[in-house]
Amino acid sequence: MFILGTEHIPTPNMLAHLSGAWALGCRSFDTALLYRNHETVFSTLRRYPRHSYEVTFKIPTAFQDRARVEDGVRSIIATNKLEYIDTLLVHSPKHVLHTEALDAFQRLSAAGYIRKYGLSNYTLGHLKALGAFGYQPQVVQNEINPFLQDVPFVNYCKAQRIEVQAHSIFATGKVFTDDALLATAGPQSLTLALFGWLKKIAANPIVSTTQPTRLSNLWETWHLASEADALNNIESFERNTRQCRSPEWDEFDLLPQDAYQHVLRQLQKTGRCQP
Ligand SMILES: NC(=O)c1ccc[n+]([C@@H]2O[C@H](COP(=O)([O-])OP(=O)(O)OC[C@H]3O[C@@H](n4cnc5c(N)ncnc54)[C@H](OP(=O)(O)O)[C@@H]3O)[C@@H](O)[C@H]2O)c1
Repeated sequence: MFILGTEHIPTPNMLAHLSGAWALGCRSFDTALLYRNHETVFSTLRRYPRHSYEVTFKIPTAFQDRARVEDGVRSIIATNKLEYIDTLLVHSPKHVLHTEALDAFQRLSAAGYIRKYGLSNYTLGHLKALGAFGYQPQVVQNEINPFLQDVPFVNYCKAQRIEVQAHSIFATGKVFTDDALLATAGPQSLTLALFGWLKKIAANPIVSTTQPTRLSNLWETWHLASEADALNNIESFERNTRQCRSPEWDEFDLLPQDAYQHVLRQLQKTGRCQP
């Protein structure tokens, strides 16, 4: 599914941009509390019947207990007359009390406030550690592009039936200036090859451009692309380089066993796991 990224759309352009995307047929949108544009995105989408579109919304949950997470999400839904959130994600792992946040997500889901929940910017180590304690996300949103393919992560999600959303698919634009990548794409366009590859690995792209003409081309290309268009020899472009990385997210460096110990300590603190 083609998901429209909204992070870089200037607020004054939001109505025109989302209306243009809607006219193309786009019905899935990504925003986050940290983008500070969510109220504009939600109010723009209120022009359409609620059941006709989907929103993915990311919230930071660092240091928050279950009640704060739950109250915060209910309040955002009420303030924005959203009825429910289609996909709610923890934006990044640092300092998240998973036993609190994911319990809150499960309760919100059971009460009909959210349709699906999950995590963003987590590693395979995190997922395995959380999975060992029964905290399986339904959706993950991670950076995935030719320079950061994270094949073990994608394969794990496929095996566990976790939906994958790919952000920074163009490596913040760097794919369009990489000579080797452009040469390999050959006569087919790079975007077609990239979309073909994303379809092959079953990752839903979060597509981002500030330019309306480009958006229309990207929309058409996504619908044209098939697995057969996937970039040849894509493995050779893996550089394991992350474009989207913040010192706030240093759990990327945690080894799987550290992530496991981290969740174990949280469970022990809440008395749900004896040492
Ligand atoms: N979960 C997270 O933590 C997280 C992190 C980052 C992003 N995201 C989500 O993912 C979305 C996309 O991320 P992103 O915008 O940072 O990275 P991106 O999709 O990798 O790159 C977007 C860049 O590519 C350029 N571009 C697009 N199509 C192009 C084309 N055909 N030719 C040349 N340049 C082209 C755009 O320029 P123009 O605007 O000029 O077209 C823009 O500068 C965001 O809007 C957000 O919703 C999530």
